[in-house]
Amino acid sequence: MTAGGGITAPVNGDRLWRSLMEMAEIGATPGGGVGRIALTDLDRAGRDLFVGWCEEAGLAVRVDRMGNIIGRRAGADDTAPPVVTGSHLDSQPLGGKFDGAYGVLAGLEVARALNDAGITTQAPLEIINWTDEEGVRFAAGVVASGVYAGRFDLDYGRNLPDREGVTTMARELARIGYDGAAPCGGYPISAFFEAHIEQGPVLEREGAVIGAVLGAQGQRCYAVTVTGEEGHAGTLPMTLRRDAMVGTARMIDALNRLALDCDPMPVLTTGYVQVRPNSRNTVPGRVAFSIDVRHPDDAMLADICLRAEALCRAVAEDAGLQVEVAETSARESIAFDPGCIDAVRVAARRLGLTCRDIHSGAGHDACNLARRAPAGMIFVPCREGISHNEREAASPVDLAAGCQVLLEVMIARAGIA
Ligand code: GLV
Ligand code: MN
Ligand code: MN
Repeated sequence: MTAGGGITAPVNGDRLWRSLMEMAEIGATPGGGVGRIALTDLDRAGRDLFVGWCEEAGLAVRVDRMGNIIGRRAGADDTAPPVVTGSHLDSQPLGGKFDGAYGVLAGLEVARALNDAGITTQAPLEIINWTDEEGVRFAAGVVASGVYAGRFDLDYGRNLPDREGVTTMARELARIGYDGAAPCGGYPISAFFEAHIEQGPVLEREGAVIGAVLGAQGQRCYAVTVTGEEGHAGTLPMTLRRDAMVGTARMIDALNRLALDCDPMPVLTTGYVQVRPNSRNTVPGRVAFSIDVRHPDDAMLADICLRAEALCRAVAEDAGLQVEVAETSARESIAFDPGCIDAVRVAARRLGLTCRDIHSGAGHDACNLARRAPAGMIFVPCREGISHNEREAASPVDLAAGCQVLLEVMIARAGIA
């Protein structure tokens, strides 16, 4: 069944690229990127396009209780646990064309390529678009794949509020027509593979095309609320102010220095800030901001988080402010399945592609799936390692290579009928 060059069924790199570019038109930003935030009307449009493509490829589509879209390609033994792949079609507000969309559309291209080659697999295949991987709008990301993997309760996922506290995941799923009836997870799966751009500089720098991903670092996120008191910008003397914004600025600077002083260094980010009342001539009375901190060593991560919280409290006390620090998500570092990692290495070798082992700095739905089934990831290079940025770019040739590896590892697992 194996064609020349170690290829089981050739993926069509042009078709994959065209699909990526067509998807990127939905939510296209002026700077050449994509803003397709989860459960918005743009997300609905992206989902509709994906569902149409799945149906054209003969996949049976179902939507589960968390809005995950599952395209299933029947196997000769359709009762066997499926081999699953997928990623996310939602993006950052100023994101790129490839983060997430690549993994979903690479999965679709696997199905299309198998159709072209007339191959039926022994076990079924499933291609999934996970709901809200990015966690831009709702209180936490990667929750829908977490429910699927049994990490979170369905009720927690469905009732997850948005940051402004005006709606919930379930309400927005219903609004965009993706509040599905299928159970979220709860069935055995054979393995999960996710293809993704690296989002870092290693593969490009080292001239490797494929990254066999060993695991991902731990991550904790916090919502911090700093409360002072509003006042008149012209009349309230500087020495009498309880300025929540000034307190926040001090906290952010201190947090940044805390990270820089740790060895080995974590990554720590404040990317979300909301000021009340956000008016030029009112002293800010309340600020809400986020902390996202990640480290490969779970004990060090826990220690840094304790110090971060203590630091926010010390700054608040010094400035006469109140502060609340609430953990919004926490995930330990994870190691992917040795068999899945090796399958990626073997497939890359068979295809004559340069491959190296690599760690993921980013979080992925695969990190949740790793709790429930053997899981692995395939990275391909992206230009200058840039991601979460409109300038994110990847080469069609590398994307096709990663997709071919995805096909090979899925087939190796599912078997050919
Ligand atoms: C996902 O994009 C993450 O935050 O790692
Ligand atoms: Mn991603
Ligand atoms: Mn992302």
